Amino acid sequence: MTDLLLLPGDGIGPEVTAQVRRVVSALAPDLKVEERLFGGASYDAHGTPLTDEALATAKASRAVLMGAVGGPQWAGVPRDKRPEAGLLALRAGMEVFANLRPALCFQPLADASSLKREVVEGLDFMIVRELTGGIYFGSPRFIEDLPGGGKRAVDTQVYTTAEIERVARVAFELARGRRNKVTSAEKSNVMDSGLLWRQVVTDLHARDYADVELEHILADNAAMQIVKNPKQFDVMVTDNLFGDILSDISAQLTGSLGMLPSAALGVAGKPGLYEPIHGSAPDIAGQCLANPLAAILSFEMALRWSLDRTDLADTLFAAVNKALETGARTRDLGGALTTVQMGDAVLAAL
Ligand code: NAD
Ligand code: IPM
Ligand code: MN
Repeated sequence: MTDLLLLPGDGIGPEVTAQVRRVVSALAPDLKVEERLFGGASYDAHGTPLTDEALATAKASRAVLMGAVGGPQWAGVPRDKRPEAGLLALRAGMEVFANLRPALCFQPLADASSLKREVVEGLDFMIVRELTGGIYFGSPRFIEDLPGGGKRAVDTQVYTTAEIERVARVAFELARGRRNKVTSAEKSNVMDSGLLWRQVVTDLHARDYADVELEHILADNAAMQIVKNPKQFDVMVTDNLFGDILSDISAQLTGSLGMLPSAALGVAGKPGLYEPIHGSAPDIAGQCLANPLAAILSFEMALRWSLDRTDLADTLFAAVNKALETGARTRDLGGALTTVQMGDAVLAAL
């Protein structure tokens, strides 16, 4: 059985996953690692961003680590064949409905954020993003010509009680092992799906998690509060689209989008999908400028959540912190190290 399936993907994806490979070799050489084309690279070779074989291998692996997908060269490809569609199909196929996105400010990076040190120093909050439902997957979905000229585009936001409840459960369980607080973000003031979201979270809380502090917040206010005073939050649970946006905002609190890893989890015992939250960064791709830490920290999450190697996860986390303490910085963090040199710094700290 494959322990770790690497899906490097496109743009900076292969650059950052190459550094993950080096870390795996140094830290956990016993892991059986495989690699498959994914995203635009798979489309170019196979005519589809996710082959049946790659999906089957992913589902039969213990953990999957994805780099990034997409890029301007695939802008004209039909939507269902685009690199991003491959990622959605992978998430749906693996049934990884809960996406953990930790906004954690490493102490040495307290001055790297565009926000003031006192706002971000010591920050450690977790976004739990619903990942296999909502407007990303709802139907109907289409663009049509209107008789009088112009077009009409439709996307559909859909959530069921069961979908909301299972992701909220993950958030409550996580909070119990942290600071015991869950903030649920939606737009119950304007959306029926938001109304249902608030009801289901409230009911689940009363039924099973009354010991956890629960707070509801409207998603627009959440965006503002994350920038104003992020340390008020412990675990924030939210839907697919809001979670996408709020996690990019939160990444900037940690110093850079290149710092934020993620773990997408589903049913216990099934493989998790690990991905940096950043994209393929076409503006810096191919220049060895990308920060590989979000990808390396995604492997750290894989060790913790899928590979039962908490010991190695702790070692890797400490090594990343140490590398940052010694001043290792890629350009996004205000430094001058290349992607490979940042990988070197982590390896040296291991
Ligand atoms: P992006 O995340 O690729 O880049 C946004 C900005 O952050 C860019 O300036 C980029 O240079 C910078 N950045 C991102 N990752 C970085 C890193 N590791 N180190 C240093 N700087 C980094 O977002 P975008 O430009 O909006 O999207 C580009 C493409 O990536 C699109 O095709 C999009 O669909 C795709 N995308 C994929 C994923 C994914 O695969 N999970 C996530 C987001 C976007
Ligand atoms: C992310 C990305 C993806 C998303 C895209 C590439 C499909 O932005 O992982 O945050 O929107 O989920
Ligand atoms: Mn995103």
